[in-house]
Amino acid sequence: MQKKPVLEVEHLSFSIGKEHHLLRDISFSINQGDFIVLSGKNGAGKSILMRCLKGLLQPDAGSITIDGQDLTGRPKKRNRSIGLVFQDADTQLVGQTVERDILFGLENLNIPPKERTVRMQQVIRLLGLAPLLHQRPRTLSGGERRRLAIAGVLVMQPQVIMLDEPFANLDYPGIVQVLESLVELKKQGTTILVATHEIEKLLAYADSMLLLDAGRVVTQAPPQEVLEIVEEFGVRRPRFHGKPIPVGDLTWLK
Ligand SMILES: Nc1ncnc2c1ncn2[C@@H]1O[C@H](COP(=O)(O)OP(=O)(O)OP(=O)(O)O)[C@@H](O)[C@H]1O
Ligand SMILES: [Mg+2]
Repeated sequence: MQKKPVLEVEHLSFSIGKEHHLLRDISFSINQGDFIVLSGKNGAGKSILMRCLKGLLQPDAGSITIDGQDLTGRPKKRNRSIGLVFQDADTQLVGQTVERDILFGLENLNIPPKERTVRMQQVIRLLGLAPLLHQRPRTLSGGERRRLAIAGVLVMQPQVIMLDEPFANLDYPGIVQVLESLVELKKQGTTILVATHEIEKLLAYADSMLLLDAGRVVTQAPPQEVLEIVEEFGVRRPRFHGKPIPVGDLTWLK
């Protein structure tokens, strides 16, 4: 079956003032159900790009199409269509308990109670949050908190979910928890964009890799191809005893 593009970005630029061109002529597309790894060294523009896509920043030029609809001039609609899990997941947690926190967005959207319950049950199961429902978000571990942030985004059923450095500040079990959730989401057909330079943890699952440098797209291609050039752009190619590790082994699961 032919895959359908869900997000299409063409010639996107974003600058602050006249001199700071943070994104330049960015074009790429993501198909329904794809798992895309967005990489590039510090300052390459990964976070800015995600914020522009979500509608938190308004691009100067270019277009953003979601499900065939041009949403460039409609940041609110993009905000609904794209779920973003921030690097600092704590800023996203608002409820007194885990359960309240997940419900928060749904209540704001006036989703009917029955539908709320169904969606809640889905994300709670998916992210293994059942034992934590009555706990305060503040008392969760880093990995648990990131899973909660992912749940809060997923429950809104965005067309695309984006995660900015989902492994930052997590220990090994925390990383495994988040990674297992991502793999499960992928299995269910969710379209996922993950910004990270920690490619050794998850590249095995990527359908393609989007490499940024200095606010420009270097390439969007199968991971195997991009790995050949990543080191020119400040991203370490994972190696073992100096030899490149095969893409299929780039996972922290198993
Ligand atoms: N408000 C701002 N004013 C000026 N420059 C900014 C502003 N916000 C971000 N930048 C610059 O934009 C560039 C891209 O930043 P961005 O946060 O998108 O990088 P990144 O790829 O996410 O990096 P990291 O891997 O460190 O998270 C950086 O050089 C940053 O200094
Ligand atoms: Mg960033």
